[in-house]
Amino acid sequence: MSGIEKLRDTWETLGRGDPLWAILSTPETRGNRWDAAAFFQTGEDEVTRLFDRLKGMDISIQRGRALDFGCGVGRVTQALAPYFDKVDGVDIAPSMIRLANQYNHHGDRCQYHENTSPDLERFDPNIFDFVYSRIVLMHVPPRLTKRYIAEFSRILRPGGVAVIHVPSALPPMRRAVYETAVLRRRAIDWIARVLSQRREDLLPAAGSSASERSAASTTYKHAMYFTRKAKVLDLLRRSDMNVICTEEWDTGAVHDVLYYSRKTGART
Ligand SMILES: C[S@@+](CC[C@H](N)C(=O)[O-])C[C@H]1O[C@@H](n2cnc3c(N)ncnc32)[C@H](O)[C@@H]1O
Repeated sequence: MSGIEKLRDTWETLGRGDPLWAILSTPETRGNRWDAAAFFQTGEDEVTRLFDRLKGMDISIQRGRALDFGCGVGRVTQALAPYFDKVDGVDIAPSMIRLANQYNHHGDRCQYHENTSPDLERFDPNIFDFVYSRIVLMHVPPRLTKRYIAEFSRILRPGGVAVIHVPSALPPMRRAVYETAVLRRRAIDWIARVLSQRREDLLPAAGSSASERSAASTTYKHAMYFTRKAKVLDLLRRSDMNVICTEEWDTGAVHDVLYYSRKTGART
């Protein structure tokens, strides 16, 4: 299986099993326990914060067309729609796109696309004013990320803005701590699975789709990739994107970086 097929397979399984939790994984929402309204509210809050920051940094954006890359079920795409004439969401997993269409409240102004190729060739050059991608490229192999960044630039109009999230490489000590935590979590998951299997063995046979779904979400782990900040800055510059600023923070053992950049050339 190629890298992209594996990626699609993993997210398709997660999207069929426990889609909202696969996107925002908090322990209390595991097992299809996200309240959809609360889930979509997180997208509204994220976009409000985003536009506050853009305004605060004096970054202007034309309000024609926006792309949400790796849109999932449209948590952020839906919230972006009121700010633009048209918004497109792209995702690799058909199950995510199916759900995104079900949750769409903006009719034709919001379109979702399943895209399983390592590029964005379905879109003409210079058509978007804004590209956004959050909690996506950390799951994409760096070789593909490099290609997608070049594609973001190709589809943006000159003067268009990209805000993309790419966690940076962890220092070796922090990485060791992170990997130890992952191993510990896997061990706990494994023990929980064994114990719940034992419990089910003791119960009278009954349809157990919830436990199957939860098993699917434990078995299918999304891989994580970290890319050095210098590398991402270099990729953006080589793709004719002027980096305006970065925003950085730590989430547990991950050093998150959000890159704000503008495509070179006169605005159209
Ligand atoms: C953690 S979820 C984030 C979803 C959305 N960005 C959000 O913040 O709600 C990651 C999403 O990226 C999608 N994805 C992963 N690799 C992708 C790729 N190569 N192209 C498009 N989507 C991808 C997955 O299917 C999944 O829906």
